[in-house]
Amino acid sequence: MSQRIVLLPGDGIGPEVCAAGRHVLDTLAPDLSVDEHLIGGAAVDATGIALPQKTLDAIEGAQAVLLGAVGGPQWADQVGASRPEAGLLALRRHLGVYANLRPIVVRPGLAQLGPIKPEISAGADILFVRELTGGLYFGDKGRTAHNAYDNCQYSKREIERVVRMAANLALDRRGKLTLVDKANVLETSRLWREVTQAVIAEAFPDLTLECLLVDAAAMHLLTRPRDFDVIVTENLFGDILTDEASVLAGALGVIPSASLGDGPCGLYEPIHGSAPDIAGQDKANPLGLLESLAMLLDLSLNRPDEASRLRTAITGVIDDGVTTADLGGEAGTHAVAEAVCQRL
Ligand code: NAD
Ligand code: IPM
Ligand code: MN
Repeated sequence: MSQRIVLLPGDGIGPEVCAAGRHVLDTLAPDLSVDEHLIGGAAVDATGIALPQKTLDAIEGAQAVLLGAVGGPQWADQVGASRPEAGLLALRRHLGVYANLRPIVVRPGLAQLGPIKPEISAGADILFVRELTGGLYFGDKGRTAHNAYDNCQYSKREIERVVRMAANLALDRRGKLTLVDKANVLETSRLWREVTQAVIAEAFPDLTLECLLVDAAAMHLLTRPRDFDVIVTENLFGDILTDEASVLAGALGVIPSASLGDGPCGLYEPIHGSAPDIAGQDKANPLGLLESLAMLLDLSLNRPDEASRLRTAITGVIDDGVTTADLGGEAGTHAVAEAVCQRL
């Protein structure tokens, strides 16, 4: 069966890092069929809505979606389905991808580049499993003249399925799972803790479970990052803590993600946004997108050999010092992609 993926470049640096991805795919997996479609502000400008039906139709039957980034100041005042970010949230819900895997791996060559001392960060290898289709992002929200609210709800089922996925991943790693919550204040967090403790006690007796409050976790991440293995947490905390933890690995632009659920189609995206401050200047680091592509090849296309070749090529390019400015280098987005292709 021939494999097909959908590429959604989106806005800002999204099209630039996706062009890098396409260049690499043409070299690495020329048999793969790649359909490009609209999402985010680009889709709003062309069609009036951020996730057009044509994009959803293209995703039907595809094995995976690779996405750049959405959003930007020109769409900041849009409301409802015309907000670029709403298109991304709707896509995540549509695909049912409730678990967002965000690996923070501190490579030997990059540990010294971030603001954290390498003696603290070197060797850290953390896998965040962020709940992606529930919580504050998807609760009722509203506004009156003097008042606004966002409702946070989680069901036992929503917590259980993502905790199980995180626990299974921890079993294949170093056997430790950390739950991050705010159980001293939030009722939803108290449910997260109850459900997590029950799932681990019943089905994962060999795992070590640690429970941390999110404020302290934000500090522990920067003071003892090597103590973490898999971290599972709700949608908003996972969003915030992964941008924070990205600096351990050198920069935000190198961190990939894979979003998975029980359905057949995975969603892959770097964790960074559309970076309007550097968009259109060939400055964006394409490594987060390229590492997302490696996860896609592995997890959705079952092509581990190509995934591994891509990761080896990326490591080589970093070791050669061919990096963008966020990693202290002088190369542009396209030059980094070209260097990866040369190594392939
Ligand atoms: P951002 O992640 O776009 O940028 C934060 C900082 O990191 C900026 O200084 C930017 O230049 C830098 N940066 C980000 N990615 C980089 C890369 N690949 N290479 C080099 N530098 C990089 O966050 P923001 O500025 O707060 O948000 C901008 C827009 O992006 C907003 O509209 C936001 O909603 C959207 N956003 C989208 C996604 C997504 O599509 N998944 C994720 C986060 C933010
Ligand atoms: C991310 C982004 C998104 C999120 C926004 C753009 C909706 O910050 O993918 O991390 O908060 O999930
Ligand atoms: Mn984010």
